[in-house]
Amino acid sequence: MTGRLEGKSAIITGSARGIGRAFAEAYVREGARVAIADIDVDRASETAAAIGPAAYAVRLDVTDQASIEAAVKTVEQTAGGIDILVNNAALFDLAPIVEISRESYDRLFAINVAGSLFMLQVVARSMIAAGRGGKIINMASQAGRRGEALVAVYCATKAAIISLTQSAGLDLIKHGINVNAIAPGVVDGEHWDGVDALFARHENLPPGEKKRQVGEAVPFGRMGTPQDLTGMAIFLASPEADYIVAQTYNVDGGNWMS
Ligand SMILES: NC(=O)c1ccc[n+]([C@@H]2O[C@H](COP(=O)([O-])OP(=O)(O)OC[C@H]3O[C@@H](n4cnc5c(N)ncnc54)[C@H](O)[C@@H]3O)[C@@H](O)[C@H]2O)c1
Repeated sequence: MTGRLEGKSAIITGSARGIGRAFAEAYVREGARVAIADIDVDRASETAAAIGPAAYAVRLDVTDQASIEAAVKTVEQTAGGIDILVNNAALFDLAPIVEISRESYDRLFAINVAGSLFMLQVVARSMIAAGRGGKIINMASQAGRRGEALVAVYCATKAAIISLTQSAGLDLIKHGINVNAIAPGVVDGEHWDGVDALFARHENLPPGEKKRQVGEAVPFGRMGTPQDLTGMAIFLASPEADYIVAQTYNVDGGNWMS
């Protein structure tokens, strides 16, 4: 049986660990070659080696235009073009409104929003020049669907991703490029270890308590795993999603509905 992404070339930003890594493993299982593109290039190399010869590490800082252009060129040269981009790299931060710093705001918007837009732009140019269409998947979040008292900046970046997905989806479909997004709920891993530590500080909770609370509140009955998201990530990258344009899909165990 051939994979659903047989012969495709993918680049996944921030895929040295977490959700991006799970997507890379899933795409390779489905027959794709995958660039593990991350600012932590040592971890990206370890991840690529663990996945196998269809994965390779690429140094990428999504806040640096020269780095974006160099990474895209490397993928073009290594894999003969790009069929799939997953804009996955992002940072989280947390503070009450009266304590938000400009530094935190600038960093989160630079990585989560500008990083995704300019990555998408350079990859779209490459896809248009190659004339073979493509699939672009942005990582949004339930945080982009509604505000949260302590999470104003991160929520705003993810709302921007949902909006950007709509505009880019509408603009690029004439080139055969589908732009869609996935909005996860709460997904366990190193990212949420950091989120838990921030909540522990701001809400005076013992370590692990915030994770326990959010997991218990998910209608499915637990936090998500990166593997819970791979079905949607494969589907949106596959020809089965050709007629899907500018959408953001929740994959969250029912969390957003609750
Ligand atoms: N974990 C969750 O609960 C959750 C929920 C909703 C949405 N999301 C979104 O899913 C995506 C992946 O989340 P995760 O939990 O795997 O995160 P993570 O923190 O585990 O991984 C993020 C990766 O991005 C990389 N990175 C950071 N800055 C970068 C930069 N400037 N250039 C390139 N790479 C950079 C990091 O090195 C890391 O490997 C993010 O967009 C996140 O906002 C996560």
